[in-house]
Amino acid sequence: MKVLGIAGSPRRGGNTDLLLAEVMKGAASKGAEVKTIVLNNLKITPCQHCDACLKEGKCRIQDDMQEIYQELAEADRIVLASPIQFTGVTAQMKAVIDRCQCLWARKYVLKVPPLGTERERKGFFVSVGGTRLKNLFEPALVMIKTLFRILDISYAGELVFSGVDKKGAIARNPDALEQAFLAGQRLVED
Ligand SMILES: Cc1cc2nc3c(=O)[nH]c(=O)nc-3n(C[C@H](O)[C@H](O)[C@H](O)COP(=O)(O)O)c2cc1C
Repeated sequence: MKVLGIAGSPRRGGNTDLLLAEVMKGAASKGAEVKTIVLNNLKITPCQHCDACLKEGKCRIQDDMQEIYQELAEADRIVLASPIQFTGVTAQMKAVIDRCQCLWARKYVLKVPPLGTERERKGFFVSVGGTRLKNLFEPALVMIKTLFRILDISYAGELVFSGVDKKGAIARNPDALEQAFLAGQRLVED
């Protein structure tokens, strides 16, 4: 069982990073092979809407996204972690999502499995927002669930916390990190 974690925050050691690390530890404690990719360390150009993928089923842009396509194809579980920024996911995460347009093209235009091999994949979302606004996570959740659906990844749920702003403040939430660890365990057991 391979679990891929994608860290979307620009803040190393920030709130979503801490939660993601626990999810991955939980998964590893059940024997899963885990790998975390930190988007802020990568160069991922936004989609240029060149439409080459509609014919070729792959993206022409040769950058670090090519590694992510490969990792997505090999993963059984995918954990996306992004704080809320301006009511959505971070620019780092949005760039990855838009670059999945070639996977959309594979599925809906070329009629082939978006991630190549057909296997049971499940996806989980981790997020934190600084405010306590009602429906804070809804716009991001719509986007993340849409992405998973398009990639034939079944939605396994989310772990989200509002009102957490300062770097590392999530660690002061009495049981957030434990919840994340348990979510990681469940993700690979289900
Ligand atoms: C550019 C930017 C935009 C933000 N927009 C929102 C927002 O729309 N709603 C919100 O609740 N918090 C917002 N925040 C606060 C972050 O969600 C919050 O600080 C979070 O804890 C950061 O998580 P991290 O430590 O994983 O990066 C924003 C922060 C930044 C830097």
